[in-house]
Amino acid sequence: MAGIADEIALIDIVPGLAASTALDLNHASGITGTCARCVGGDSLELVAGAEVVVVTAGRARRPGMSRADLVEVNARVIRRSAEAIRSAAPNAVVIVVTNPLDEMTVEMLRATGFPRNRVLGMAGTLDSGRFRSALAAAARVAPADVEAFALGSHGDEMAPISSRARIKGRSLDVFLSSRQVAASVREAITGGSQVVALKKSGSATIAPAHAAIELIDHIRGARTGPVPVSVMLQGEYGIEGVVLGVPAHLGAGGLVEVEELRLTAEERAALQRAGDAVRSRLRS
Ligand code: 2OP
Repeated sequence: MAGIADEIALIDIVPGLAASTALDLNHASGITGTCARCVGGDSLELVAGAEVVVVTAGRARRPGMSRADLVEVNARVIRRSAEAIRSAAPNAVVIVVTNPLDEMTVEMLRATGFPRNRVLGMAGTLDSGRFRSALAAAARVAPADVEAFALGSHGDEMAPISSRARIKGRSLDVFLSSRQVAASVREAITGGSQVVALKKSGSATIAPAHAAIELIDHIRGARTGPVPVSVMLQGEYGIEGVVLGVPAHLGAGGLVEVEELRLTAEERAALQRAGDAVRSRLRS
């Protein structure tokens, strides 16, 4: 519906679900006027020739579960998806959404054998969106007046970056007390779990979909500038061999370059802790 693709193939293991959703979306195009055509089915072969593959396959959390509780079960799903992508869409840029996000992005990298620039994890755009939404509500301003991003892992070790956040171009302390900023940081970190706790049978879909579209917009050149995205680090921020959310420039081939921003010592330490935590959860 956002007019970002000529063709969209939906794949779901539940018979009829993807096909019916594709049909529903095609019907909607008669109203929205979008030119994108949708196809849907339960065969992984539908991934053939894709330029961008967004992988959400896997179990979602149930109330009380952390994202990390899904490592084993979802790693198997990622490996099967990776096999299909490697053989049928060998030039695709892959955006992993399956949780636990950073660990599953590593799994996708390993299983496809793709270079790091073509395997990205979607978390930073979602977590940053939640952070901005919370800051805007606390300061009683429009979300568009807030610039802020969250780095680190997509979980308890998330690192919302307050030092560089701005409201109407000014630092947060002009509008908010340190308690309000801390509460907004908490909102960003717990936002996903709050949705799971209310919904009971799955996780958020609407904000994650918009957050994936934001990444695709960077890949297709409709947006420019650094965007928070999970990538395999190769020494950036002093971290090596682990996937973590960092600001980066994207283009048609995926990652162009990680941008190393000046962070406070505390924020750098939070990134290090996130890297250590993700590393400790990786299968060897
Ligand atoms: C979330 O935070 C799905 O992990 C995703 O809502």
